[in-house]
Amino acid sequence: MSTTMFLGDKPVNRIGFGAMQLAGPGVFGPPRDPAAARAVLRRAIEIGVDHIDTSQYYGPDVVNDLIRETLHPYPENLKLVTKVGWRRDDAGGVLPAQWPSELRAGVEENLRSLRVERLDLVNLRLVGGGDAAIALDDQLGELQTLRREGKIDLIGLSNVEQPLVERALGLVDVAEIQNGYSIIDRRDDALVDFAGEHRIAYVPFGPLGSAYRRGPARLAADTTLARVATKHGATPAQIALAWLLARSDSMLLIPGTSSVAHLEENMAAGAIVLDDTDLAALDAVGVSSPPQQA
Ligand SMILES: NC(=O)c1ccc[n+]([C@@H]2O[C@H](COP(=O)([O-])OP(=O)(O)OC[C@H]3O[C@@H](n4cnc5c(N)ncnc54)[C@H](OP(=O)(O)O)[C@@H]3O)[C@@H](O)[C@H]2O)c1
Repeated sequence: MSTTMFLGDKPVNRIGFGAMQLAGPGVFGPPRDPAAARAVLRRAIEIGVDHIDTSQYYGPDVVNDLIRETLHPYPENLKLVTKVGWRRDDAGGVLPAQWPSELRAGVEENLRSLRVERLDLVNLRLVGGGDAAIALDDQLGELQTLRREGKIDLIGLSNVEQPLVERALGLVDVAEIQNGYSIIDRRDDALVDFAGEHRIAYVPFGPLGSAYRRGPARLAADTTLARVATKHGATPAQIALAWLLARSDSMLLIPGTSSVAHLEENMAAGAIVLDDTDLAALDAVGVSSPPQQA
């Protein structure tokens, strides 16, 4: 199994890092231990992370500031991927920010806070499936204009369903789909396959089942995951990540963690080779679980 893939035309390791867990509780405000958050970022680069998923609205500002303070000037091969379409209010509430002017402001804020001239990829984080009052053409049109201005390299879509992706493909090149998906949340199975057929990177959020949904605890409690983990001398979380990598060649992972130990485990999951017996057993995990909200 290849350890590298592409985001657009950019080579990228199949396991990267999701930075959302570096903010304070509720992804709002500073982390309890900023030095520990910086240590995670430094260690990520040391062990080969070349793809960090972030957003200006994580904190807000907090996570991008940590990334800039810790890693700037950035390694040449580091891909910084962000998302626009949401904003935070003073109480930490999350509000849509999808007017073209708001999308532009979001891109500008990311450029400023990350201190880069161009963002490798910007995901349009849609709300309510994208059928909001603001036309998709207008939202993607603004991102395309920002791309022509040299402020964005690639465009992705987040929280989307297949009909919207199909519409978007008629308007722009789509380099990434970022939806919720994991071994215990298979609602997006068809779109995973669609992304593979269209050579679009599928980058699941919540690849460990999401902290909001007690994902890691549910993985740890699953007997099939435990059995396969024991066989490979691995943890259930690592097997859940290895299963995702085996699920589709278009899969790129951004597991989120605030812990150096978990970060190292997550990166090491890339070396686990699941055989056909493992995969047959794992394919049955979670399929009868009740639907989970992203
Ligand atoms: N586009 C969107 O709408 C959207 C939404 C949510 C997230 N995201 C992105 O996707 C990334 C990943 O999603 P996520 O962070 O929500 O969920 P996740 O990766 O499924 O799970 C994160 C949780 O797993 C724990 N964890 C991490 N590695 C572990 C390991 N090896 N063993 C046991 N527990 C482990 C973390 O706790 P510790 O901190 O203790 O390790 C944290 O509680 C985010 O960081 C963010 O960049 C995007």
